[in-house]
Amino acid sequence: MRVFLSGLMGSGKSTIARALGERTRLPVIDLDARIESHAGARVTDIFRDRGEDAFRTLEAEVMNGVLEQNAECIVALGGGAVTSRALRRRLLREGFLVTLDASVDELVRRVGNAASRPLLAGQDVRARLQALRQARSDAYAECHLRVDTDALSASASAARILDAAKDAPIVVPLGTRSYRVRVGIGVRAQLPVLAAEVVDKSVVMLVSDTEVFPRWGQAVTAALSTAGLRVHSVTLPPGEAAKTLQSVDRLWSEALDAGLDRASLVIGLGGGVIGDLSGFAAATLLRGVRVAHVPTTLLAMVDSAIGGKTGFDTRHGKNLVGAIHQPSFVLSDIEVLQTLPEVERRAGLAEVVKSAWIVGESAVAELERDADALRSGEPEATLRAIRMAASMKAYVVGEDETESGLRAVLNLGHTVGHAIEAAQGFSGLRHGEAVALGMVAAFRLSVGLGRARSEDALRMRELLARLGLPVDVERHLSDHVLAFLTSDKKRQAKQIKYIVPAAPGDVTIEPLPISEITRLLRA
Ligand SMILES: NC(=O)c1ccc[n+]([C@@H]2O[C@H](COP(=O)([O-])OP(=O)(O)OC[C@H]3O[C@@H](n4cnc5c(N)ncnc54)[C@H](O)[C@@H]3O)[C@@H](O)[C@H]2O)c1
Repeated sequence: MRVFLSGLMGSGKSTIARALGERTRLPVIDLDARIESHAGARVTDIFRDRGEDAFRTLEAEVMNGVLEQNAECIVALGGGAVTSRALRRRLLREGFLVTLDASVDELVRRVGNAASRPLLAGQDVRARLQALRQARSDAYAECHLRVDTDALSASASAARILDAAKDAPIVVPLGTRSYRVRVGIGVRAQLPVLAAEVVDKSVVMLVSDTEVFPRWGQAVTAALSTAGLRVHSVTLPPGEAAKTLQSVDRLWSEALDAGLDRASLVIGLGGGVIGDLSGFAAATLLRGVRVAHVPTTLLAMVDSAIGGKTGFDTRHGKNLVGAIHQPSFVLSDIEVLQTLPEVERRAGLAEVVKSAWIVGESAVAELERDADALRSGEPEATLRAIRMAASMKAYVVGEDETESGLRAVLNLGHTVGHAIEAAQGFSGLRHGEAVALGMVAAFRLSVGLGRARSEDALRMRELLARLGLPVDVERHLSDHVLAFLTSDKKRQAKQIKYIVPAAPGDVTIEPLPISEITRLLRA
């Protein structure tokens, strides 16, 4: 276990680190002390002589060294260490990052004489702490856990941190809009507590569909009500056919009739369709109320519930009208997959394979090892796969929320997949099945371009087949299907940004002329 403690000076980092060390017997590292011994100078002197930028560079260098050398440790970071985006994101990926907080009164009391604190020396301590808290609010919000230490002893804080670290959430790092994705067995039991943290006394609108509500919605509604929340449930028809403006209109009306206000919470309990509709309704109601997702399909757990894309279909196509509206939290309980039809679960596995290929060799090798267990829905293997895919998506969204660059890699397999779906009027193959075919097609193109080796193409094909997904893309590459490439939403002029896979971990975004794509796919 690696625990990193962050927070303003006076928030209790060193004391709580020692308390954690006593409980876990892990080495406790004080980053400032490490920097001083590394540089042979005091932190205050480094600040004074070389300036803050040079100090931050040194701090990141020393912390990277700590990470290389310690598989398990407790680290009390310097208060500003997490202002380095690269270091902060690394800490989020490689351990359990905790932000300690306290009221300014308490911080002032604890800091006492500020002479030894380089960022406070010679200043109004209160004003300076307030300004630092403000300036670092985005950085401090990107953490696994926030602990308010005002009324907690060091030992109680340590106990809380260790308890939470056992079941670390995945963080989608978006500054003060960051949120946590909890994946586990039975985690839906946490919903009332998490919802109550968001809504306080206002209304919760639970959006679900007629397949999901009788199986899981009734118990969820009862648990929310028992926790004292006012719940209004809306149940829509199931499936893509319901992803319409009429459904959104119904959600708007029901919400306003039920007295939703700006402090309310919309909860989407369902697959990607319910997630997209409830998210869009929340984004637009009263110019934006909060939404949380409790995904009930594998596809929604690994993909659609994370990242904030919401919307509905129009006669011009899928997902052409929508908004980016990030949820307050995501709760993925794999127990709810027990009732998901097998064909839906299998379709979700295509997105899992896509994610593994983006992550790299270790993720692909794990899926290959787990393939039989995944195909039969074994819970532990499913949990591992969801965590891998959800972590990758969280990372990508944190780097590129609005898809101006990196996020496009998530469209691997989607160009041809979408064309196949569109050619069937979105009523033939499931989305995941079409993506599986799209990935096989992407490899065909990549081998033709000289990017992928045919062994890599074969490896992807075999993995998909073992998971029960279709791979016979050749029979789908008709003129009729290829004509739909030109209506791809990602088209720019006569080019498409094609997502080209090669070895695991080597997936690139390449603008290619449509004529060249068609030629390579037909070859
Ligand atoms: N927002 C995004 O980033 C994003 C990403 C990928 C896909 N999507 C969207 O997601 C949608 C597809 O989502 P999906 O594959 O989850 O389909 P879906 O939401 O239509 O669910 C599939 C079917 O399974 C049923 N179902 C769901 N959970 C169940 C459960 N636990 N037990 C029994 N039945 C259950 C549903 O009622 C439905 O009939 C598409 O509209 C797609 O555009 C969005």
